[in-house]
Amino acid sequence: MAIEITPIAKPPGSTVKMGATITGVDLNNLDDESFEIIRNAIYTHQVVIVKGQGAMKPISQFDFVQRLDPDASPTHGFLTDDVKDDTVGVLGSKFNVVPDSKGVTLVARGYIDDDGHGTKDITLGNKRYDLHVEPLPEEELEKGHTRFHSFHFDGVIYGAYPSRVTTLRCVRAPRGPDITINWDDGSGQSVTSKPGLTAFIDSAQLYELLTPEEKTLADNSTWAPAPQPYVWTGTRKLRNSGLGMAPGGTTVPLQELPSWVPEKVYRFPMVWVNPVTGVKCFQIMPDVVHKLYLKTDARAPERVVEDGQEIHSWLNNILDRICKPESIIIPEYNEGDVVMFNNWGVLHSSIDFPPSYGTRIMHQCHISSSTLPVGPTAVH
Ligand SMILES: [Fe+2]
Repeated sequence: MAIEITPIAKPPGSTVKMGATITGVDLNNLDDESFEIIRNAIYTHQVVIVKGQGAMKPISQFDFVQRLDPDASPTHGFLTDDVKDDTVGVLGSKFNVVPDSKGVTLVARGYIDDDGHGTKDITLGNKRYDLHVEPLPEEELEKGHTRFHSFHFDGVIYGAYPSRVTTLRCVRAPRGPDITINWDDGSGQSVTSKPGLTAFIDSAQLYELLTPEEKTLADNSTWAPAPQPYVWTGTRKLRNSGLGMAPGGTTVPLQELPSWVPEKVYRFPMVWVNPVTGVKCFQIMPDVVHKLYLKTDARAPERVVEDGQEIHSWLNNILDRICKPESIIIPEYNEGDVVMFNNWGVLHSSIDFPPSYGTRIMHQCHISSSTLPVGPTAVH
């Protein structure tokens, strides 16, 4: 089999530069040369769809992710020692691991009679975690009017470095008419897609939307998440678009969080450099950012911003430049296809669909990185 990499065709007017499909590989049997081609494709195209992996074993999925970061602890990124019932917060209450997979989890919604890999007779994901400032009414969802759930990158963040690459294999796709994804923010913006897919925003494109002064500031600045960030986020909500925080709500006081130590609260660059292409990506997760350490240039004094409203109005102004239908890609995939993405270079969001469309089952795997994302300037 010869590997073929084909950029995903974009509709007229699209500004998206990322996305490719890969054919001609068997992820159960991947020689070193083919592995390197796929690794390079993930970092070059940011999001790739590997077609035709219906026979892939969960253990092969785990091994592939581990092969991308051989020095990382071989544990799913959401299954670290720091993840306990009282720390998962808005991530949800439970992660279901595929048996004999070493750490592939089920991202599913609906009743699973048998996923073919040892998970049977279980219903998952029907409790909706409404993260939006105005909850989406159930009757709107049933009509196929939905939203982006939450744009984010994958990682526990506290005590763990963000995972390098996430893989999602589509085991079962929901069936039904196309859905309409609304911004519901007064802008009137919407897009349509097949149900059960994942949306992506290119953080490299976002960096390019900064002014020259903002680029210099981002290159020299850092940010820190809160400790136990998914609990800390408290009663705050996302904007209805799924990208950026809405005003209002309160965070949990640091002294009331589940136990934490300062050594596990890392400071991240504001710009993460793609390890293969060297391209700069503006990468901040809106829900978890607690402090900005702003430097207008390398020699400028550092200004620490801790006020949540100031952080989010500054960040939302930047995020709004890319939160547009023409800048978001929702690549199509079918059962048996594997989605792989550069978690250090994109934000992604699931998209809810009407329960009547049936069950969606994805096998998901990412592993906490062995290293901190690398910025254009040293973090100190
Ligand atoms: Fe995710």
